[in-house]
This record gives sequence, C-alpha cells and structure tokens, in this order.
Amino acid sequence: MQVSPSLLSADFGNLAADIAEINASNADMLHIDVMDGVFVPNISFGFPVMKYVKKLSTKPLDVHLMIVEPQKFVNEVRDCGAEYMTVHFEACTHLHRVVQQIHDAGMKAGVAINPATPVCLLRDIIDSVDMVLVMSVNPGFGGQKFIESSLRKVAELRQMIEETGSQAIIEVDGGVNQETGARLAQAGADVVVAGSYVFGAADKKAVIEGLKNL
Ligand code: DX5
Ligand code: ZN
Repeated sequence: MQVSPSLLSADFGNLAADIAEINASNADMLHIDVMDGVFVPNISFGFPVMKYVKKLSTKPLDVHLMIVEPQKFVNEVRDCGAEYMTVHFEACTHLHRVVQQIHDAGMKAGVAINPATPVCLLRDIIDSVDMVLVMSVNPGFGGQKFIESSLRKVAELRQMIEETGSQAIIEVDGGVNQETGARLAQAGADVVVAGSYVFGAADKKAVIEGLKNL
C-alpha cells in the first residue's frame, strides 16, 4: 500500500519538524489539503505555505484542492512543485478540460469524488486521469469517522479500471487507520491518505510502516 500522510493534522506551529519526520519515514507522498471556505466549510492554507512545504519535503506533493474553480490555479499549483493536482468532480463543470490543463502544466491529474458522488460518473474520464481520490469522509475536516460505503465504491472503481484498461490509481482519504486501511487494501485501494492517525501518533514512522504493510 502507498501512504500519503495529510499535513492538515500536522503541528502548524512546527511544520518543519513534522515534515522532517515524514521525510525520514517510508511514506510515498505528502498530502496537501487546500480549502477555500466555499467548496467546503473550512479554510486551510494556500500557496505561500505550500511553497515552503515544497522546500522542506523530500516526498512528492499530492495536492488535494477542495476549492471551486480549480482551473484558475493550475499554474500556481505547478509553481508549488506538485506531483499530483487533484480537483473535485463536483467543482468542475468542464472536468475534461481541467484535466488537460493539469497535464499541459506537466503534473499528474487526480479527480476526487465526495461520498455522495457515484463512481459510475467517472466512466468517461477514467482513461484520462492518473488518480481517482475516493473521499471516505465529507471533505473539510480531519479526524472524522470513516464512511463504510466507501469500500463498495473502491471495489466498483477497481472493476471499472480493470474493464477500461485505465492507468489510474485509487487513493482513499478520510478516517483511515490500520483497521479501515486493511479493508481498503482488500477492496483494491492503491494509496491511503492518513492525517490524524499519523500526526496524532507518538511514533509517526511506525504508524506509516503499519499502513505500508497492509
Ligand atoms: C479532509 C481532508 C483529508 C484529511 C483527512 O477534507 O481531505 O485529507 O486530512 O484526515 P483524517 O485522516 O484525520 O480523516
Ligand atoms: Zn485530502
């Protein structure tokens, strides 16, 4: 299993120390949650913070934009050194065009779906994306309870990827711990995002290792 710790639950008063701990771990990426107070009822941080994170992190940045009109910020996200730019299905009227813009900017493109958005709506974009992010909580906050129906969605998505020959990987975000992670591995997830589970742990490296071994 690939692991992408979510910086949202890090100590914002000492980001450098928390990022150094992730650098020293076996995490595959660093998950960056950007919120605008419109698409989700919360605001996190923006580009100046992301640029600083990029300087400190040795892991590829996995940027999850919970914002309206994400197409306006493709160049800014690229300039922050993102490997993946993930936009919400629900936030894009012209999703296909946004995915093209992300690719043209040299990044990998991810599409996130909220808990109430069905997997079948991805059928005509699955061939064009590098990642699908299945939200297993309602986006906006860390530390929420895992929504069980996400498991069925991951399995359905895995089947769609196999049927279409898509290269997309499946990432799951929200309420991930060792127990839900094990079930997500079984359902066919490639990457788990974990915020409070990793940053709330005394030994972050060990917690990441546990998820890696799922
Ligand atoms: C929620 C964010 C998540 C969040 C997950 O909107 O997208 O990445 O950090 O937090 P946990 O792992 O605590 O559920
Ligand atoms: Zn996220």
